[in-house]
Amino acid sequence: MTSNSQLCQPLSSLTPGATTSSQAFEVENGPINPFTSNPFSQGYYDILNRRRQLPVFEQRENFLQMVHSNQFIVIVGETGTGKTTQIPQYLLYDLLPHLSQRLIACTQPRRVAATSVAQRVAEELDVKLGEEVGYSIRFEDITTPRTMLKYMTDGVLLREAMGDPFLEKYQAIVLDEAHERTLATDILMGIVKEIASVRSDLKVIIMSATLEAEKFRKYFNNAPVIEIHGRTYPVQMHYAREPTKDYVQEAIKTVTSIRNNEPPGDILVFLTGEKEIEDACRIIRSRISSSSSVPLAVLPLYSILPPQMQQLVFDDPPVGKNGVQGRKCIVATNIAESSITIDGIVYVVDTGFAKQKVYHPRIRVESLLVGPISKASAKQRAGRAGRTRPVNANSINASLILPASGKCYRLYTEEAHEQLEEQSCPEILRSNIAPETLMRALESLNYLGALDDDINLTHIGQLMSQFPLSPELSKMIIESDRLGCSDDIIIIAALLSAPIIFAKETSSVDARFRKRRFVHPDGDHLTMLNIFREYKKQKSRDDWCQENSFNSRSLKAAENIRTQLAEILTRNGLKLNRRSIQDPLYSINIRKALISGFFMQAAHREGGPILLTCQDNQAVTIHPTSVLSEPYEWVIYNEFVLTTKNFIRTVTKVELSWLIEAAPRYFDPQFFPQSRGRKQLAALTRRR
Ligand code: CDP
Ligand code: MG
Repeated sequence: MTSNSQLCQPLSSLTPGATTSSQAFEVENGPINPFTSNPFSQGYYDILNRRRQLPVFEQRENFLQMVHSNQFIVIVGETGTGKTTQIPQYLLYDLLPHLSQRLIACTQPRRVAATSVAQRVAEELDVKLGEEVGYSIRFEDITTPRTMLKYMTDGVLLREAMGDPFLEKYQAIVLDEAHERTLATDILMGIVKEIASVRSDLKVIIMSATLEAEKFRKYFNNAPVIEIHGRTYPVQMHYAREPTKDYVQEAIKTVTSIRNNEPPGDILVFLTGEKEIEDACRIIRSRISSSSSVPLAVLPLYSILPPQMQQLVFDDPPVGKNGVQGRKCIVATNIAESSITIDGIVYVVDTGFAKQKVYHPRIRVESLLVGPISKASAKQRAGRAGRTRPVNANSINASLILPASGKCYRLYTEEAHEQLEEQSCPEILRSNIAPETLMRALESLNYLGALDDDINLTHIGQLMSQFPLSPELSKMIIESDRLGCSDDIIIIAALLSAPIIFAKETSSVDARFRKRRFVHPDGDHLTMLNIFREYKKQKSRDDWCQENSFNSRSLKAAENIRTQLAEILTRNGLKLNRRSIQDPLYSINIRKALISGFFMQAAHREGGPILLTCQDNQAVTIHPTSVLSEPYEWVIYNEFVLTTKNFIRTVTKVELSWLIEAAPRYFDPQFFPQSRGRKQLAALTRRR
């Protein structure tokens, strides 16, 4: 950054922390980009004009004055008013991070928002994404030493706070989407408040899309509040006359009807998850006759969709023959509720459902369940209709005729709407952070050797914290170095961190059959490793994945994660090593490494297909997709799946003696209730 500090001629008239909006306005007018010293492009000026029409712009001077005299500021503004894209840029021109070499951070609960907004803001500032403006999400850090403004997920900032307790890299932290009340953002609020009490130079901005501001204002020492009022267009509400049986089918019907009967405008449909969305998209596409003169682009949007695909929702709608304006139909999860703004949406189809994290205290499992949304969410969804006008550079001259109002189709009755909860419960209250669980977490870290008996971080714990992974996965990697199989184990860790590598199977028999060529008799972890190694050998990997029904995107993601884990491993002085598959220790040591992290996820056979988990003595069976069709005496598993039955998924055979060796204090027969497993454990412990 030193090199470009001399280049910023246009900024030389500004004093850090004292910029007025008119000064910034002048510099933004050009002609030279102060951050790159290149002349501004024409596209820059086009976007600049539109940025200045956003409601947030009217408050720029007000905001700057508040920043100059306050440490905390709360900003409340409806979605689409320009908070996420503009506020960090206002800070940029005020704090001039290229001089202090301290960045501005803006957190987002969702990866999609972090990546898409960073891309948009890079465009607005006329810089290359990853240079002056970058983003950081788990396993993907698109920044350089030049980066001044970083969009990131709240999880990533939380992790950074572990290694940099005063977050000294930053001079301003914008916690965006605070109303979503994600666990990470809620915890960050606590951390950032504490840091601010010892770092008077740190500016903290809390941004929220709903009027929960009062809580935030109080929490941050009665911080001043800026309200940004959107230019709302009226939204006509339509309710279902009677309850719908199948909301997906109903949503599809509604889209078809809008397309055939309603004036131009894009459509946004809210569904709950990947599979539902992909199925709905396929059906909608199949129902559009290609001969139609009005083209329709059907675009899915959910968090695990790759970024390039997500970006498509921001493209202009298609144009048909003779310049006929087409439409976009975006089928999304509640990502599109408030975290990202897509211009041109006139019709919203709200099914009334979303996936939510639910914690089951009895079995201590968190799962995502589909449930009804809150009234606040329903309002937010409706508000996406007719909120913004198309302002994309390409369509500015297209003189679109839009209806005077948006329309929201609620696929549930008005009575059902009345019965919805006012607000959904914050994640922090739905998650397993109750004191008992916290104690258990400390206990697990102690068993894993990350904390000593006085709750101090050990050397192993220190090493574990270097990996952006769960404690179990981190521990297994560290142990694998000693066991001579770290090259295999980081692949397994990567595969367990990537989305599931098996394409949706039609039946468990198919799944088993498909895996047969790659099966390792000792279990699923080793089988996945075989698949990955085979994948790496292929020349045309996509074809190979297709033939074998593997998800090539997931394998690609795993490959990328593996590379990063290898880098962290070697950076921390650990070795990359592996044995040949013929070596008898190959499978044994890989499984011993797995155990070092996952011994708390062991289960033993009780009788027939039933196993009991060691942690909670739950009766489970092995998931039908496993390569282990018969229960083995002792196994470890990656996941407890709660459906109509209790399953364990991704399962590998192990020896009881290895479990005892890895965690003698955990495998103490006195902690086990009466069972076959306990007898075996007692017998073996006595013999030792
Ligand atoms: O944060 P808030 O919802 O208040 O608004 P924003 O995300 O800053 O979006 C303001 C405007 O920026 C939108 O109306 C879009 O015109 C534009 N934008 C965009 O074109 N592409 C993005 N990825 C994000 C925003
Ligand atoms: Mg926003």
